[in-house]
Amino acid sequence: MQFIEANGARIPAIGLGTWELRGRSCARIVEQAIKLGYRHIDTAQVYENEREVGEGLRASGVRRDELFIATKIWTTHFAPHDLERSAKESLVRLRLSEVDLLLLHWPNPHVPLVETLGALAHAKTLGLARHVGVSNFTVALLDEAVALSPAPLVCNQIEYHPYLDQTKVRKACARHGIAVVAYSPIARGKIKSDATLARIGQVHGKTPAQICLRWLVQQDAVVIPRTSRVERLSENIGVFDFALSDDEMAEVFRMGGADGRMTNYAFAPKWD
Ligand SMILES: NC(=O)c1ccc[n+]([C@@H]2O[C@H](COP(=O)([O-])OP(=O)(O)OC[C@H]3O[C@@H](n4cnc5c(N)ncnc54)[C@H](OP(=O)(O)O)[C@@H]3O)[C@@H](O)[C@H]2O)c1
Repeated sequence: MQFIEANGARIPAIGLGTWELRGRSCARIVEQAIKLGYRHIDTAQVYENEREVGEGLRASGVRRDELFIATKIWTTHFAPHDLERSAKESLVRLRLSEVDLLLLHWPNPHVPLVETLGALAHAKTLGLARHVGVSNFTVALLDEAVALSPAPLVCNQIEYHPYLDQTKVRKACARHGIAVVAYSPIARGKIKSDATLARIGQVHGKTPAQICLRWLVQQDAVVIPRTSRVERLSENIGVFDFALSDDEMAEVFRMGGADGRMTNYAFAPKWD
């Protein structure tokens, strides 16, 4: 496993995404992932699976200090006291004393950012989280957040895959020493039938998903692909034994556009 270092955090470059994984199958896939070498698990309050993620962690038998667990505070808990209370509730569900990374899931313009960031930093001071960060922050919001946050922000978790050009926000993250955590990194499964990725994959004896994930980690992005299938766990982590050439990297970069989003954000807040 490789690690990405950002503002004091050491983040395993591949994590297991858990959105839409529920119940016993969620606990089982988390357990299997860790047994296969995953060390980073990404959950969120709004996924309603923190309890099962915690079960999977414990069932894996791997020591807590070898694991990197991230969860996200939902936008309805951004007022300072709500944030602290809901972070503690997440820890109760996960049955952990702290998470490694606590994120603001989406920006919420109805609560002053300075207050939410103060509360997030306070959660860190209380020992509820080792590191803090944000998700779905635009360049302007990220600049504002970095200026306002009493605690260093270690990542911005954003949708990022070959169909979506994220150059601007990636540059902003680099400027602040903040890691990009790429969500929906295999475009919600769409890349499996991509002709360009398949052709590059033939050269390396790799699948389109592996080419896609390699392209991301080779840019020093953290990736959190989600699968419900045990056989795909190994596939998605098998990206450290080969490298893409500069030409191959450039070819995949050319696939990206500004309107390549995959997610319809059914649960995302609508602000206007
Ligand atoms: N911060 C945010 O707002 C936000 C938003 C969205 C997602 N996320 C996080 O990012 C994680 C990943 O994103 P995502 O779940 O949207 O999408 P994703 O990881 O890009 O894609 C998941 C889909 O791809 C399929 N898949 C997995 N491995 C594959 C492979 N090797 N070949 C072909 N298909 C494969 C899965 O199906 P099978 O289950 O059948 O394998 C599933 O349908 C989430 O689970 C969540 O933790 C965060």
